[in-house]
Amino acid sequence: MVCLGNICRSPMAEGILENKAKNLGLSWMVDSAGTNNAYHIGEAPHHFSQKIASLHNLDISTQCARAFVPEDFDRFDKIYAMSGDVLADIKRIARRKFDASKTDLILNELHPGENRDVPDPWFGDEPGYHVAYDMIDRACDMIIQKFGQPSTANRQFSL
Ligand code: 4NP
Repeated sequence: MVCLGNICRSPMAEGILENKAKNLGLSWMVDSAGTNNAYHIGEAPHHFSQKIASLHNLDISTQCARAFVPEDFDRFDKIYAMSGDVLADIKRIARRKFDASKTDLILNELHPGENRDVPDPWFGDEPGYHVAYDMIDRACDMIIQKFGQPSTANRQFSL
């Protein structure tokens, strides 16, 4: 889960997807990073991100902002950008490690092909964080549906 600062949107995305996966017994490694976080590396999530997450019974307070690195393409099967500017940064930073088949805008899971952004709440007040949380939460439901459940073809039935 990648945004600019790794303090507002992507920490919520990390917490949300990690929690949904855990509740389904999926052993997914979920992490988040920022593409433009020179000022925020090492910081905990923004206090509004922490607050909104805790209203949804998620504790994201122990997360720590880090920079997105090209090697993230070696470590992860999917890389979700919160917005188009972040996707452009990911391409620029990853250079030859960039893998388009692993990368997408997170809201394309909810609205395929529409290339919508999760609006950056950084410049606004608390309501923007609720909006971002709800969009990310719905997109994560789709990610779980897509990758978290055995396909009918693979499911084993016993009578
Ligand atoms: P985020 O929000 O990308 O959702 O973490 C931002 C946080 C900080 C800045 C920009 C966006 N900043 O310019 O410091």
